[in-house]
Amino acid sequence: MRILVTGAAGFMGCDLVDKLIDLGHEVHGVDDLSGGYEENVNPKSVFRKLDLRLKKETEEYISLIKPELIFHLAADASEGRSQFTPINSTERNYLAYLNVLVPAIKNKMKKMVLTSSMSVYGSQKTPFSEDMEMKPEDIYAIGKMAMEKSTHILSRVFHFDYVIIRPHNVFGPRQNLSDPYRNVIAIFINCLLNNKNFYIYGDGEQKRAFSYIDDFTPYIIKAAFDNKVNGETFNIGPVEENTINEIGEIVLSEFFKGKEVPTNLKPKYLPPRPLEVKEAWCTVEKAEKLLGYKTTIPLKEGIGKMIEWAKKKGPVPFKYLEELELSNSTTPPIWKDKLI
Ligand SMILES: NC(=O)c1ccc[n+]([C@@H]2O[C@H](COP(=O)([O-])OP(=O)(O)OC[C@H]3O[C@@H](n4cnc5c(N)ncnc54)[C@H](O)[C@@H]3O)[C@@H](O)[C@H]2O)c1
Repeated sequence: MRILVTGAAGFMGCDLVDKLIDLGHEVHGVDDLSGGYEENVNPKSVFRKLDLRLKKETEEYISLIKPELIFHLAADASEGRSQFTPINSTERNYLAYLNVLVPAIKNKMKKMVLTSSMSVYGSQKTPFSEDMEMKPEDIYAIGKMAMEKSTHILSRVFHFDYVIIRPHNVFGPRQNLSDPYRNVIAIFINCLLNNKNFYIYGDGEQKRAFSYIDDFTPYIIKAAFDNKVNGETFNIGPVEENTINEIGEIVLSEFFKGKEVPTNLKPKYLPPRPLEVKEAWCTVEKAEKLLGYKTTIPLKEGIGKMIEWAKKKGPVPFKYLEELELSNSTTPPIWKDKLI
């Protein structure tokens, strides 16, 4: 099967490409390297550096490859920043997706595996389940909902199969450590590597669920190759939820392993980010039943593995955008004043 993975140089994309290659597939990967790294690209895949916002070039590329199966992971996944970069978020998420999907349909793609997000549930009562309505409350989540709904609508007219995956927060080795806008565990670890304290928004009692990468990739692959789940939507992640304060404590204890945490590295608190939902975690009963999902790597162990990898890699500077599209007094000071 000719497979295309978009976002192939990104954190989740590169792990997926590796596992598909190990299974013996012909894998093409595409990424513009805006958030991913060339070193993540599997040399056994056929890689093209391409910005999927470019409609004509993307159409030519898809017509050349004619993928039968596509895993769409490319994104600007900075949910918290999307209110301050709404155009960038929409172009890199919804529009880039249509730039892939339309020529893929014309070139007889059989199945799309779309990586959405549990942000589509908004601030409804947790645990979120797949039969809940989508009620997005930020620009990133609106984009993901538009991608999901467009997939469903176009599949009814043009008859291709699809499956939608809504991951919880995924973390692990090869995650971008230099992004100051997203991935709380990666940010905390890189702050410590740089001998700086990290910051927590609000009171830190926000609840989230975190998956180690090895507990994510096998299920997106299972969903792709199991035709019994065509047309289904799955939450993927652990049943256990944690507060950001707990995540901070685990990162510190795993980073310093039994040693005293230096006082200058204790976390500091900032006002909450605008529109950040207090609780976001899901039930995974459907994935357990239909995909055989189970959590195998406990949070502490996963964070320990990621810290081990990050310490080998060493500290990296945080990379900020040249400017935000919109800014006001609610813009987090970390971004405005480059606090980390
Ligand atoms: N990591 C998580 O916790 C999480 C949770 C829920 C959903 N997701 C979704 O999973 C997918 C993968 O996330 P990730 O954590 O691996 O992010 P990532 O940033 O590591 O990977 C995304 C990749 O897309 C690429 N990209 C961005 N814009 C592009 C464009 N215009 N053209 C080509 N490539 C482009 C980036 O360079 C990057 O390598 C995303 O769709 C994200 O929204 C991630």
